[in-house]
Amino acid sequence: MIKIGTDIDFAAEQLRRGLLVGMPTETVYGLAANAFDADAVLGIFAAKNRPSFDPLIVHTADLDRAGEVADYIPDEARALGAHFWPGPLTIILPKGKRIPDVVTSGLPGVAVRVPRHPLALALLGSLDFPLAAPSANPFGYISPVTAAHVAAQLGDKVAYILDGGPCEVGIESTIVSFAGKKPKILRLGGLTTEALEALIGKTESAPTSTSNPAAPGMLSSHYAPRKKLLLGDMDALLTDNADVDFAVLGFRHTYGMPGIALSPGGDTTEAAKNLFAAMRELDATPGDLILAERLPDSGLGRAVNDRLSRAAFK
Ligand code: TXA
Ligand code: MG
Repeated sequence: MIKIGTDIDFAAEQLRRGLLVGMPTETVYGLAANAFDADAVLGIFAAKNRPSFDPLIVHTADLDRAGEVADYIPDEARALGAHFWPGPLTIILPKGKRIPDVVTSGLPGVAVRVPRHPLALALLGSLDFPLAAPSANPFGYISPVTAAHVAAQLGDKVAYILDGGPCEVGIESTIVSFAGKKPKILRLGGLTTEALEALIGKTESAPTSTSNPAAPGMLSSHYAPRKKLLLGDMDALLTDNADVDFAVLGFRHTYGMPGIALSPGGDTTEAAKNLFAAMRELDATPGDLILAERLPDSGLGRAVNDRLSRAAFK
């Protein structure tokens, strides 16, 4: 029996016992464990089948408590946290001593984030330790944006799933590092580059496709459905695949074909929110091909295109 509900005290109790809990955030659902407990954290890697070289994000209740996770918080990082937390932004900070090496895969930096979901904040506020939490999906598959998605794939690995409804943002957090001269975006995500740069000026981006990435979730193939997914200009995709049994993952339209339009009104924020549920739905229908349309490269369109290109890579 998979236990799903909104009982914060029960969720907290499981975490205190070193067990795993499915946790809603505004981006995607996380698979949470006590970040100070190396054994509990190892349980996350095992449940997800996640390679040990791919480090985890640590979630805290607020900026002050991020100080329990980091060795210190540089001024520019503090300013960013003060402005955008709680929210879909992860900052790499110098790792504090209480964080075991398994959390950061031995890296000197720890990824920290204050999530915006009320249930996540209530849970974090009731604990005296932070929560390590990757997205609650098997490694490489599409991230979960409902409690049911978590239950479907990791239901037998968690002690409880805290049900916070469908995620408001729908794609993972933007990751920023201050390790170099200029702030660097390691992963495009739920906080737009425009919003970030309005506060801190021009940023650099990490190379988008590599097998030895700065943020290992940036592996070329990720967020992938089981079916083959092709990404591009829809007119060309429809012409080239006319005789195949496909479904369309469109931006505003499905071009009269079976499939899903992510945002009929053409809003990249709405498209991001609908992306992962739509990918899961199309992955479950008959046929063996998904034709996905590239979004405009503005707002959350860039982060959605990033996810789609990794889903397309085989
Ligand atoms: O929105 C999110 O960030 C969600 C929710 C649950 O908070 N979490 C999430 O975690 O997306 P995950 O594990 O699926 O992706 C975390 C990414 C990975 O690409 C990982 O390599 C990178 O963050 N990362 C974690 N710690 C890092 C570190 N110390 N230095 C560089 N990259 C790091
Ligand atoms: Mg993930």
